[in-house]
Amino acid sequence: MKQIFNTNLNLNHVGELVNLKGWVAKTRNLGGLIFIDLRDRSGIIQLVIKPENEYYELAQTLKNEYVIEIDGMVTERESKNKHLVTGEIEIAVGKLVVLNTSSETPFEITDDSNALEDTKLKYRYLDLRRSNLKNNIIQRHKITSSVREYLNSCDFIEIETPILCKSTPEGARDYLVPSRVSNGRFYALPQSPQIFKQLLMVSGFERYYQIARCFRDEDLRADRQPEFTQIDMEMSFIDEIDIQNIVEGMMVKVFKDIKKIELKVPFERMTYDDAMNIYGSDKPDTRFDMKIQDITDIFSNSDFSLFKQVIDSSGIINCLVVKDGADKYSRKDIDVLTEYVKKYQANNLLWLKYNQDFTGSIIKYLSDEELNIFKNRLDIRENDLILIVADKTKIVKNSLGNLRLKLGHDLNLIDESKYNFLWVIDFPLFEYSEEDNRYYACHHPFTSPKDNDIDKLISNPGNCYAKAYDIVLNGYEVGGGSIRIHKSDIQAKMFKALGFTEEEAQLKFGFLLNAFKYGTPPHGGIALGLERLVMLLCNTDNIKDVVAFPKTASASCLMTEAPNIVSKEQLDELGISLIK
Ligand code: AMO
Repeated sequence: MKQIFNTNLNLNHVGELVNLKGWVAKTRNLGGLIFIDLRDRSGIIQLVIKPENEYYELAQTLKNEYVIEIDGMVTERESKNKHLVTGEIEIAVGKLVVLNTSSETPFEITDDSNALEDTKLKYRYLDLRRSNLKNNIIQRHKITSSVREYLNSCDFIEIETPILCKSTPEGARDYLVPSRVSNGRFYALPQSPQIFKQLLMVSGFERYYQIARCFRDEDLRADRQPEFTQIDMEMSFIDEIDIQNIVEGMMVKVFKDIKKIELKVPFERMTYDDAMNIYGSDKPDTRFDMKIQDITDIFSNSDFSLFKQVIDSSGIINCLVVKDGADKYSRKDIDVLTEYVKKYQANNLLWLKYNQDFTGSIIKYLSDEELNIFKNRLDIRENDLILIVADKTKIVKNSLGNLRLKLGHDLNLIDESKYNFLWVIDFPLFEYSEEDNRYYACHHPFTSPKDNDIDKLISNPGNCYAKAYDIVLNGYEVGGGSIRIHKSDIQAKMFKALGFTEEEAQLKFGFLLNAFKYGTPPHGGIALGLERLVMLLCNTDNIKDVVAFPKTASASCLMTEAPNIVSKEQLDELGISLIK
């Protein structure tokens, strides 16, 4: 039986008898007539009960969130409500049945509810009755359906992989599950299905996908949850461009289905090095310009002690030009920006303003010649503000990259209606950790080096690039993937470069290295963060808004109170004793 939802009804149905079910969102008694806002998952419709109706008395007892069923006739409304999808009609109720009553809810279920976040999370099932949250969850379903349709049509096969896995290094901390049968041993929840999807390529499935649950015990942010979902894909006999084409096709379909927007493909491609140099980020928001500019060479013979010192220690001098922004930033405002860049370890934020001539904190240290070159090279105009950081490369890029985003938001430079997709390509293969004094894989240890860099894996790891790519949308890393290593000897070299002994590599990945001996096809893949994609399509910057039952920043669920203590018997069975 097909259910009629409130918003299926409109003026075309006037005169029809309908049966509707839902929740009482609001009741009003206006001079004898009782008006009821009936809510179902699609939205609200107005019901009217007249005093002569035999159910009138029952209608007077209705309270918010009672569950009711009505039979009634669709009629045209006299005073129409433009804010409501069903605002041109109402239902003249014939019969009313109360299916259930409701206690008073801890907060009013309205779209602009100002209840505390913790209260809403505790009563998430009620919060999900609010239309904005409910619509996000429905959008998520539509996006997932669109993705499935697309991948099915491209000959992909959906395969589930295990949740109880072996701990393997993927960057974040694992969630561990103790084994009852083998005390002292642990499963790990998958940070991604990475190894399984590669093994499926060894098995010959050629095109796999999965809407996969992943688990990572890491510090949470507005775009991170400890458990999240990936649109996970792997393909054999392909190269980077093939994978990127498939993903672009998927985005074209999703944006058409969900937003009725025609995306232009191919998306722009930018190397990692360019992204870092120009935007100070590997996920640049290209909806506004304001590039980071390198001015080190202009000041290579500077007398200014700070510049001298930075250049002598192989640092760099970079700046942002805030066009027509000089009069928008007082000294006090610039002090605020200085504090802001300190969060990113930049000890100084130097500034200049141009109004017929340069003024600013460092003007007395700069020669006319330097300022002239500077002005011409950067095309400085009246009322421009220049913000400069001089420091180690990493600090300069990171602090100016973040400052750029802040200025973009503060000055309203970002066109919120834009969807700017971008591939960031040619990532470094390794990153060096000063703390641990060793190299880590930038993506993961199964990522293929660029062909020309295979010989440098051991001798010069810091200079190797990867066949890895990220898909970025409006400054968010929406997905990442790579071509994999499919030859055991190169994989063994990779582990060596990462500091694993042969025994360690065997212990951790023996099964994978063994599998690779049996005719592994060349393969590669990608995973897109489903929630991040849904967030961007739902115009929210909070990942919780697109997860039905999210966790807080401390990875707990306020509704079920997970994580929680377990009984001594459960711990005994697992052979676990807690340190007091
Ligand atoms: P990666 O670690 O880059 O790659 O993850 C892929 C995408 O998953 C999303 N994501 C998250 N979303 C919400 N909360 C989190 N904690 C979280 N962590 C990651 C991001 C990210 O771009 N196995 C590889 C993929 C591959 O190589 O095929 C992987 O997991 O949008």
